[in-house]
Amino acid sequence: MAISGTGNLHRALSGYRCSRSAMVWSLVGLLLLLQLYSLASRRNVVRGDIQLHVSRHPLVRELEQVEEENIQVPPPKKKKSPHAAKRRRKRSANLIDEFLDENSQIRHVFFPDMKSAVDPVKGVENGSHHYYPGKIWLDTEGNPIQAHGGGMLYDERSNTYYWYGEYKDGPTYRAHKRGAARVDVIGVGCYSSKDLWTWKNQGIVLAAEQTNETHDLHKSNVLERPKVVFNAKTGKYVMWMHIDDANYTKASVGIAISDYPTGPFEYLRSQRPHGFDSRDMTIFKDDDGVVYLIYSSQDNSELHIGPLTDDYLDVQPDMRRILIGQHREAPALFKYQGTYYMVTSGCTGWAPNEALAHAAESIMGPWETMGNPCIGGNKMFRLATFFAQSTFVVPLPGIPGSYIFMADRWNPAELRNSRYVWLPLIVGGPPDRPLEYNFGFPPWPRVSIYWHKKWRLPPSWKVSK
Ligand SMILES: *[C@@H]1O[C@H](CO)[C@@H](O)[C@H](O)[C@H]1NC(C)=O
Ligand SMILES: *[C@@H]1O[C@H](CO)[C@@H](O)[C@H](O)[C@H]1NC(C)=O
Ligand SMILES: *[C@@H]1O[C@H](CO)[C@@H](O)[C@H](O)[C@H]1NC(C)=O
Repeated sequence: MAISGTGNLHRALSGYRCSRSAMVWSLVGLLLLLQLYSLASRRNVVRGDIQLHVSRHPLVRELEQVEEENIQVPPPKKKKSPHAAKRRRKRSANLIDEFLDENSQIRHVFFPDMKSAVDPVKGVENGSHHYYPGKIWLDTEGNPIQAHGGGMLYDERSNTYYWYGEYKDGPTYRAHKRGAARVDVIGVGCYSSKDLWTWKNQGIVLAAEQTNETHDLHKSNVLERPKVVFNAKTGKYVMWMHIDDANYTKASVGIAISDYPTGPFEYLRSQRPHGFDSRDMTIFKDDDGVVYLIYSSQDNSELHIGPLTDDYLDVQPDMRRILIGQHREAPALFKYQGTYYMVTSGCTGWAPNEALAHAAESIMGPWETMGNPCIGGNKMFRLATFFAQSTFVVPLPGIPGSYIFMADRWNPAELRNSRYVWLPLIVGGPPDRPLEYNFGFPPWPRVSIYWHKKWRLPPSWKVSK
């Protein structure tokens, strides 16, 4: 309708040829029409969303309850000098400083101890199935799950979820004075589940190299954010991961392959995709089976996105630079009703920072930034992504618009003791922040991640098919 309206305007104005004022007025008219169109389409989105709300699974509404947190920052421990006390008071005003302080009196709030561990074997007797973001999470053998910076594969052949991640179970140290806190590479851990809550350890599916120092997987290097997809054409499970040296100067992606989701994966090689540095990364499989690689590049100042080859073993030459100059990392993508969404973090090493949601009509962009998706907790919780960093978004089949947001609560003092923060992510509701380069509101519904101390998937939800 808007298009034929513009056509009429053209015809009506064609009588005033060569008139300067007509040109001005036609511009004004066009702008008005565009504004009307954008308003109308926005109203459509909002209305469509209200319908969605009503027809939504009643238990999703439970997940959308806003849950507040009231954490008191403890008073300074002791006063050495008035100067130090002043500094201390200023510091402790910030919950993030408290989070990063290994001797904080409220450390248990962020890193609850083993006594409160979530145990799928004992917990199930209570019919629990609850997620407790930040608590130690045990596998079916009673050991803490080691799958950091992880990703999820739903394997349709076995109707099973596979959770892959960094197995960080070693001492934390610095390779040199100014190096980042690190652990030696052990490999990629894999856990399987039918319900996304009870996880069985499937072992290390891609192991570090112990002796060969020139090998990408040598334990002194870096292996982060492994993600696995299944290639229906070749029948192979393909893993992509961030490969680096201890100083993060190699900045490459690694590729490995297996006949089984539980490995062992054979490491093929590393590369700098499209010739660019690549650090935090993920891969996303679209409905049409095309897999895209998304990576932080140009010293993390922008993201790059491009499709993989049909066998998923290489990138194609086609690549777009997105979110240029925005310094985002830890990308996690998903798709809802034909629109692509992405959650990213800022770049502050192991320290938490503010998440942003982005959306795009075409996966290759342009991508628009929609603002902070976090809801609940308190202001600091929301500004620190609940003291965690995005790693993956898992769709929940059968509950449209509902996802699990997977994030890592890094523990830089003891990386092996980093925690998982899984929370419900819901697409719906009107956007609450205008777009950055435009006065208009995004034409997409809001992406919301709801804080919960304790929550669970709707009990009726099951792995379908
Ligand atoms: C199981 O239920 C009992 C009684 O309500 C409670 O004391 C206990 O903490 C629960 N255990 C778990 C793991 O939730
Ligand atoms: C060590 O790894 C490099 C790189 O993968 C390889 O070319 C070389 O053959 C390996 N050396 C040995 C002794 O296995
Ligand atoms: C990392 O940087 C340090 C300090 O600049 C240097 O001594 C070390 O050799 C570097 N290591 C690698 C693997 O590049």
